[in-house]
Amino acid sequence: MMTKSFGTADGTQIQLYVLKNSRGMEVAISDFGATVVSLKVPDRTGNFADVVLGYDDASGYVNDKSYFGAAIGRYGNRIGKARFTLNGKTYELSKNDGENQLHGGVKGFNKKVWTAKPVRGGVRFTYASKDGEEGYPGNLKAEVTYTLTDKNELKIDYRATTDKSTVVNLTNHSYFNLAADGDILKHELTLHASKFTPVDATLIPTGEIRDVKNTPFDFTKAAAIGSRIGNEDEQLKFGKGYDHNFVLDRPKAGLATVAEVYEPTSGRVLTVLTTEPGIQFYSGNFLDGTTKGKGGKAYEFRTGFCLETQHFPDSPNKKDFPSTVLNPGSEYKSTTIYQFSTRAK
Ligand code: GLA
Repeated sequence: MMTKSFGTADGTQIQLYVLKNSRGMEVAISDFGATVVSLKVPDRTGNFADVVLGYDDASGYVNDKSYFGAAIGRYGNRIGKARFTLNGKTYELSKNDGENQLHGGVKGFNKKVWTAKPVRGGVRFTYASKDGEEGYPGNLKAEVTYTLTDKNELKIDYRATTDKSTVVNLTNHSYFNLAADGDILKHELTLHASKFTPVDATLIPTGEIRDVKNTPFDFTKAAAIGSRIGNEDEQLKFGKGYDHNFVLDRPKAGLATVAEVYEPTSGRVLTVLTTEPGIQFYSGNFLDGTTKGKGGKAYEFRTGFCLETQHFPDSPNKKDFPSTVLNPGSEYKSTTIYQFSTRAK
């Protein structure tokens, strides 16, 4: 592993940790937000390109509003009315998305400087979130470990413990563009999800678990992201495109392949494996060209997509969704793998 200076954030020196495997794949991760800054993978002819959106230095991430590449916590995605009740006590969270909380609040884990430690084949980041931070109960010790394998896999292991009952939902918010250019509408997506969680106009799940069958949300067979994104559909209208949690079909507990994305011009393939029950498929609908990223490039509408492995949004207020409660004495554990390969024409 190589360490490089990446600038400063809140007066702190920020580093970039660069991992490289025997096949030339290279991933750079920053201690600011435990953020995946760049990810270089080959196309079908062996040409490497950086397939994630982001910035050239720490200041880009300090000012970022899109959560490019970051670790998200304490709670990934939205909590309705920024409040929940646990063991009879109501906790008021910080609001940063209208009346709701999004991605952990005003200063979520994506804006914190994490402590880095090299581990075999990767780097481990730890962050201690204080009792009451952004409204959450309990001192939470969070850990995110990135490892790069020789199978071109970026493996992300999440761990957390608490000293008071709390809720936790950690994820990574990388935006991928497997062509490393243009929009993502021709990327072909397969999602092993026969159901999804429809939302209201503020993107809070209604509580319904709906079949994807005969809807634009059916990616059980590969379909171009853009093939139905413009359909007349209330859910697509609410999300301004895809911005929904899919309920993953998993034959068994543990790590399972849940998504695959193929980009036909480059031949690059991204396969996602996770232990989580859900995935937020977001088609970059809030990107509008005002954000200038790497090399000064403007990130236009739908030029990146996210596949955020997670527990379902607003679970603390939905008793029928899988629980996100973490109690003292238990350990939160989650693993996601982003694996890269190529396919012939
Ligand atoms: C998630 C949310 C989106 C949006 C992005 C970041 O995917 O579901 O609504 O907030 O993060 O812009």
